[in-house]
Amino acid sequence: MAARKLFLLSGDGIGPEAMAEVKKIIAAMNKTGAGFETEEGLVGGCAYDAHGKAISETDMEKALAADAVLFGAVGGPKWDSVPYEVRPEAGLLRLRKDLALFANLRPAICYPALADSSSLKKDIIEGLDILIVRELTGGVYFGEPKEIIDLGNGQKRGIDTQVYDTFEIERISGVAFELARTRKNHVTSMEKRNVMKSGVLWNEVVTQTHKAKYSDVKLDHMLADAGGMQLVRWPKQFDVIVTDNLFGDMLSDVAAMLTGSLGMLPSASLGAPDAKTGKRKALYEPVHGSAPDIAGQGIANPIAMIASFAMCLRYSFGMVAEADSLEAAIAAVLDDGLRTRDIMSAGMQEVGTTAMGDAILAKF
Ligand code: NAI
Ligand code: MG
Repeated sequence: MAARKLFLLSGDGIGPEAMAEVKKIIAAMNKTGAGFETEEGLVGGCAYDAHGKAISETDMEKALAADAVLFGAVGGPKWDSVPYEVRPEAGLLRLRKDLALFANLRPAICYPALADSSSLKKDIIEGLDILIVRELTGGVYFGEPKEIIDLGNGQKRGIDTQVYDTFEIERISGVAFELARTRKNHVTSMEKRNVMKSGVLWNEVVTQTHKAKYSDVKLDHMLADAGGMQLVRWPKQFDVIVTDNLFGDMLSDVAAMLTGSLGMLPSASLGAPDAKTGKRKALYEPVHGSAPDIAGQGIANPIAMIASFAMCLRYSFGMVAEADSLEAAIAAVLDDGLRTRDIMSAGMQEVGTTAMGDAILAKF
């Protein structure tokens, strides 16, 4: 079996603390022959301190050569005044761009033990398991023209442009249909074709892609504003939601927050399959940042990072049983009443980062 190459970029703040718990899991899996080969690099503020850039060319090459990148978090007040081009976030943006990670996967899963802590009623979110697939490299965040024009009459004009080409919509909807086949086989595509030309095209191309290659999957279309409303009204009607960069940014934040703390939320970003091997470039990271307010205290919740590694097992290595088992271990530890401070509630047992990681590993 070829080695499974992981490149670890822990970053700043709580990034390394959370990553340490994933490293334990990798070491345990290697003892039973999983064959992970890990290498580590620097990204973000720590990379800037070491060599004046948010990520070095050497580390970029390693990221490109790896089967998957595990990313912690970057940034913090220490680097607030470094030049814009080399700020910590530039490292993440560079990785997304050079690895061409066009598909951002954000699951919203409700762990039974935490069903009471949502802002929504328990029966609305209990058992929730949905996946938002957001287009990440196109749309209004990148379209040209993108500028502020001085109109010369005391007025200025700010312009952003939403642009989508057929191939971009085909490939993101392809990812959504393929993932749906491994889940409940249902995709809901969201756009605003009622007011946007790019929405008309989005709807058309998703429909054609479905007809040509994925007609076994159930497909619905929904206007994105109605989709936002339905997400908080009855989220369990969804399985996979596919949408553009802007709507996906907002809808994935809404969906994620249905289910709990930032410290619980994983994500994956996938690129196009390699023409020869069929393997996708991929980066897995928690949704949260470097949490400078709690960094170095040993109290960060490692679950978002560990759940990101579970996504890595599932999507980069096809290790579905292992991914299921790791996610079940997280649920079991929560069922046992263990909580890090961010998800602590009355009657539960508060534990630190290491103890939470150890408990999950013990159930895995
Ligand atoms: P943040 O996600 O770092 O923290 C927000 C709040 O949530 C804080 O109170 C923090 O303590 C808490 N929190 C976050 N993750 C947690 C965890 N795993 N366990 C327990 N509590 C957790 O966002 P914030 O404070 O806006 O940004 C802090 C720094 O992180 C900034 O420099 C920001 O630019 C950077 N950032 C980096 C991201 C990335 O690397 N992808 C994403 C978001 C922010
Ligand atoms: Mg956002």
